[in-house]
Amino acid sequence: MSKVKFYSGENVPLEMHKVRIVQKLDLVPIDRRLQAIKDAGNNTFLLRNRDIFLDMLTDSGVNAMSDQQLAAMMVADDSYAGSESYTRLEEKITEIFGTEYFLPVHQGRAAESIISKVYVTPGSYVPMNYHFTTSKAHVVVNGGMVEEYITEEGLKFNSDNPFKGNMDTVALENLIKKVGAAKIAFVRMETGTNLIGGQPHSLANLRDVSNICKKHGIKFVFDASLLADNLHFIKTREEAYKNKSIREITREISDLCDIIYFSARKLGCVRGGGICCRTKDDYMKMRELVTLYEGFLTYGGMSIREIEALTVGLDETMDENMINQGPQFIEFMVNELHNSGVPVITPAGGLGAHLNAGAFLSHIPQTQYPAGALAAALYLVGGIRGMERGSISEQRDNEGKETYANMELLRLAAPRRVFTMSQLKFVVDRVQWLYANRELIGGLKFVEEPKMLRFFFGKLEGTSDWHTKLVAKFKADFGDSL
Ligand code: F0G
Repeated sequence: MSKVKFYSGENVPLEMHKVRIVQKLDLVPIDRRLQAIKDAGNNTFLLRNRDIFLDMLTDSGVNAMSDQQLAAMMVADDSYAGSESYTRLEEKITEIFGTEYFLPVHQGRAAESIISKVYVTPGSYVPMNYHFTTSKAHVVVNGGMVEEYITEEGLKFNSDNPFKGNMDTVALENLIKKVGAAKIAFVRMETGTNLIGGQPHSLANLRDVSNICKKHGIKFVFDASLLADNLHFIKTREEAYKNKSIREITREISDLCDIIYFSARKLGCVRGGGICCRTKDDYMKMRELVTLYEGFLTYGGMSIREIEALTVGLDETMDENMINQGPQFIEFMVNELHNSGVPVITPAGGLGAHLNAGAFLSHIPQTQYPAGALAAALYLVGGIRGMERGSISEQRDNEGKETYANMELLRLAAPRRVFTMSQLKFVVDRVQWLYANRELIGGLKFVEEPKMLRFFFGKLEGTSDWHTKLVAKFKADFGDSL
C-alpha cells in the first residue's frame, strides 16, 4: 500500500500528483446505455466514447501525460532525419537500459513484426512465459510455433504466489533438449504478463531463463511493455530487491536480455514503441525493416513530439511514486471485490483488475460467452467499459470449431494517473451490485461473426431478454439515480 500511513489505520493508496487538466465526463441515463450497448452488438469495442463514463478498456495510449511531458513536446526538433529529439531519446534509453542501439517504431506490434520477420524461420520455436495476441500472431505469420511455459500457478485464478508470470524453466530446458537450440528462434519473456491478469515475474526467474539462453546460445527477447508494473512488484514482493532503486532493478533486468522491445503506449505513457539492441549485429539486421515499414531511423513512425515526451516518460517511470500508483489502485479494487466475495484474480497484478467471469456467471456456459455478457452488463449498470478477455477473444480453429479460452475474464484496466479513488469506489460498488443480481444476467450469441479478430468487430445479442430485466431491477433499486 501507499508509503504514507493514515492516522485511521486505513490503507488508502495516495496519488502523488495533482490533476491540472481535466476532461468532462457524462454518465448518460440507463435507457440510453441500453440502446448504446444494443447498437454496439454487446461489444464494448463498438461503443462510442460519448456514451461511456469510465473507460477501462485498456491502459494503451490513454495514460495521463505529465506537465513535463507536455512541455517537452513543445521543444521537439522536427525533421525527417537527424532530429535532436531522437538523439535525446537514444541517450535516455542507453542511460536506463544500458543498450547501445535503438530503433523507434510506431507501436509495440511493429516491434514484434520486425523481430519476428528477422529471427523466426518456418518450423522454428518461440518459447515464452505466455503469449500476447499480437506477439503470437507475428510469430505464427512468419511460420514459427509458440510454446507457452507459464508455471502452473500462473493459470490459477486465486493464489498467493507473488510471481504468477514466472516461466517454467524445466519445461524450457526440456524443449531445448527435444528440438535442439538451433530450432529455437528466440526465447520471449513478457513482463507484467498481460493475458493472465497483468501478473509479474521475479528477477530471479528472469535470471534463470537468461542463464539457460546463454548456456545454449539462444537469443533472449524481453517484452517490456508492462515493465512499470513489474518493477513495482519486484521492489515490493522480492526480498532481495527491497532496498534497490527502480533504476538499479531496471538495469539488472536489461543486463540479462539481448533485445528489449516495448509498446510506448504503455511504457512511458505516450504513443509509440521501440527496440533496444545490445549488439550492432542485431541492430543492423533490423534497421532496414524499420525504414521499410515504419519511417526513417530517427522517428520510426512516431511523431517527434511523442519522442520528446517518451524521453521524459521513461525518466518518470524510474520514480517509485509514479509506478506505484497503478498497481496500488488495482490492489485497492481487487481487495474490495475479493473481500466482498466477488470472484476476481488474486493476487492483484498490474494493468487492471480482472474479474473471473466464469465463476461470476457460473450459470452461463462458455458457449454463451460469460465474459462478454459481464462486459455488456457492467456497461449497462455503470457506463463502465471493460474488455472481454475470454472466448470471444479467441478464434475458431481451421474446421470452424470454437476454441475456448483458459480463463473467462473481464479486464477493468486502470490507465496510469487517470482515475480518482471515488471513481474506483463507484466501479467496485456497481460490480458488487451486479454480483448480487448476477442471476439476472444471461448469455450472448453471435449475430455477426468476422473470421479474423472477431472480438474487435463482432456483434452479439442476448440469448434471452435479460438486458431489459436487469434494467428494471436497476431502476427498482436505484430509483432515478444514474
Ligand atoms: N506486448 C504487450 C505485453 C502488450 O500488452 C501489447 C498491447 C503489445 C505488446 C502490443 O503493443 O498495442 O502498442 O501494438 N496491449 C494492448 C492492451 C493492446 O490493451 O493490452 P501495441
